[in-house]
Amino acid sequence: MDIKKLETWYVQNHRKLVFRESRNPYHIWVSEVMLQQTQVDTVLPYFSKFIIKYPTVSDLAKASEEDLHKTVEGLGYYRRFRLMQQAAQKIISEYQGIFPKTYDEVRSLPGVGAYTAGAIMSIAYNQPYSATDGNVIRVISRYLGDDQDMGLEKNKKRIDAYQQSMIEKATPWIYTQAIMELGALICRPRQPKCELCPLQEHCLAYAQGSQNELPIITKQTKTKTYQYITLIIEDHDAYYLRKRHEELLKGMYEYPQFEGESVYTVLSELESQGIFLDLNEDKSIYKHVFSHQTWLMDVYHAQLIKGIHPDWIRIDKHDFMTYPMAIAHRKIKR
Ligand code: ADE
Repeated sequence: MDIKKLETWYVQNHRKLVFRESRNPYHIWVSEVMLQQTQVDTVLPYFSKFIIKYPTVSDLAKASEEDLHKTVEGLGYYRRFRLMQQAAQKIISEYQGIFPKTYDEVRSLPGVGAYTAGAIMSIAYNQPYSATDGNVIRVISRYLGDDQDMGLEKNKKRIDAYQQSMIEKATPWIYTQAIMELGALICRPRQPKCELCPLQEHCLAYAQGSQNELPIITKQTKTKTYQYITLIIEDHDAYYLRKRHEELLKGMYEYPQFEGESVYTVLSELESQGIFLDLNEDKSIYKHVFSHQTWLMDVYHAQLIKGIHPDWIRIDKHDFMTYPMAIAHRKIKR
């Protein structure tokens, strides 16, 4: 690969993104964790807000769970931020608050996989460790004309090995960002701009005209659909919410919701627990798609008449927006 051409292209063409103004490993870490599951444009305001709120590892380590969830509300995949806080606490207790400098130490932090460790080592410390994400898989599989299934670990490993051999000949902090930026701006999933690509000359996909077919990724994931009855329960100036303890959206607040098709079944189940609701029978239907599951929600409004549910928390309407809530429910019209 013509690494010089790629790096020159990056220097001249990269987007001036706020997290690129820093080589502080903490900043790089925060940005890479956010960027792993979320688009750049979405991440930018969250990144700035996060760094203002938690300027150092120590501030993140000390944050309350509530405050942390609220700060990242809307980004999804919240487990990554709980793990990030555990990692911050480990940096305080084991590294005196100083971000670790070796690959093995960085890689052993909670939530830090090979990708994140490679990104931090290369971008912050200019060390030759590859960071292979979806962008990189696309760029390299096209460049090599590799038509194997990139849904399989062994094929991704081969791309990563190639990527590793390249970064060892490169300027790591530029190379890692350059290959990602190429994936974002030029070697895009659809309609790649091959005419502008610094790697066009030796790109096998371009030579064969297969750039729109690659990479081949067969999905290994099965998604499941759940039908819920979702209740917006009012009680004077308050709503009742429940704090989730399920792995999906753990720690986020939600309206009480019950798997099933019939609101009347839910009402009689609640009545058997001494909870009586006055139901408004107008329902609205919402859908939310997560990576591995879909929620179909029949949403009803109701007033609490009597009773108290051990899992429900009474939240004043004035405070409603201060609680971290899954977007699946935040988007429901109250
Ligand atoms: N996606 C993941 N990491 C990125 C980065 N550093 N720049 C742009 N897009 C990215």
